[in-house]
Amino acid sequence: MQNLIHDKFSSLFGGSGEFYASAGRVNLIGEHTDYNGGFVFPGAIDKCMMAEVKPNGTHFARIYSLYFGEGCFFSLDDGAEMPSALWARYVYGVCREMMGRGARIEGFDAVFNGDVPIGSGMSSSAALECCFAYALNDVFQCGFPLLDIARLCQSAEQNYCGVRCGIMDQFASCFGRKDQLICLNCKTLKYEYHHFAPEGYSLVLIDSRVKHELASSAYNERRKSCEKALAAIRSYHPELETLGECPRVWLEDVRGLIGQDDFMRAEYVIAEQGRVLDACDALERKDYRTLGELMYQTHFGLSRIYEVSCPEIDFLNDMARKLGVTGSRVMGGGFGGCTINLVSDSVREEFISETRARFKDKFSHEAKVYEVVISDGARKL
Ligand code: GLA
Repeated sequence: MQNLIHDKFSSLFGGSGEFYASAGRVNLIGEHTDYNGGFVFPGAIDKCMMAEVKPNGTHFARIYSLYFGEGCFFSLDDGAEMPSALWARYVYGVCREMMGRGARIEGFDAVFNGDVPIGSGMSSSAALECCFAYALNDVFQCGFPLLDIARLCQSAEQNYCGVRCGIMDQFASCFGRKDQLICLNCKTLKYEYHHFAPEGYSLVLIDSRVKHELASSAYNERRKSCEKALAAIRSYHPELETLGECPRVWLEDVRGLIGQDDFMRAEYVIAEQGRVLDACDALERKDYRTLGELMYQTHFGLSRIYEVSCPEIDFLNDMARKLGVTGSRVMGGGFGGCTINLVSDSVREEFISETRARFKDKFSHEAKVYEVVISDGARKL
């Protein structure tokens, strides 16, 4: 990938720059908990976005994306027009957020490429944001600590791309480490690494290749439901700061006072919070059966209570159960994308080939399969 990027860079701009990368992510368990101040359990993967970057002495960013096969050009002056391509808005957003926090970002040339698939729930957007933020922070010596990089990338996504996302994806992309999952408390941002290289098991992602147009507005709606439920509970328990910390019995106090949908969303979040902590314990004990069972429970919650699944994804989850997969669930925001599966070596081959065949029979298009390894996050190469 690095050679391809460099060939394009030298033919477009001449000379050479520095190389940076940041990773896509998986999340073992803890979905839709990040924006509720709860726990998540993600890790960076061996798929990344990579860029060669060099200052160009102007006030303009000139960026070519091998990934999308097109370039973009934007001014770094205040009030400059936002580029129209979505990928370019991620980079533009990162620049604006950095400058808004006092960084002096000047003109630069860049070429990037990547192997994080888009729209499959592996956070290609966070990988792109974090790759550029990490690169510009280094090239222009802005001095932002890694946590600020994750935060400003989250803001870029919220303010320039319209998704009111939590911090999980950007945090995992920045803080990921080889063979380590991150148990992150999204309220305090305290985190712990947990070794994850389970012998005899692998992580297999099955991408349904379904991407629903309404995914980002439905995501924002879920978030609103959680906010409504929290506000109602707080009228009885003003000390409650986040839904993630709410005891289940407090939710009962508002049953009938909030809409049924809002109630269900909160119910899911509170249960999921408990599952993440149980999953961390199970992993420490190498109890993969319990861990896997928790993943199935999360899927049930996401499908029936939080309602962010779809027929293709539910089908993949059923297939996993039938074929003896240890744990399986929809990953990321939902409404398509992929399932994450904890698969023992003894069933892996059959699981992959049977799932491929039966999915194609049922939905008339191919699912894609990715075997991923927990790897390093943002870095200079
Ligand atoms: C998306 C968001 C994350 C998180 C997940 C759901 O990936 O970007 O912040 O909310 O959905 O867990």
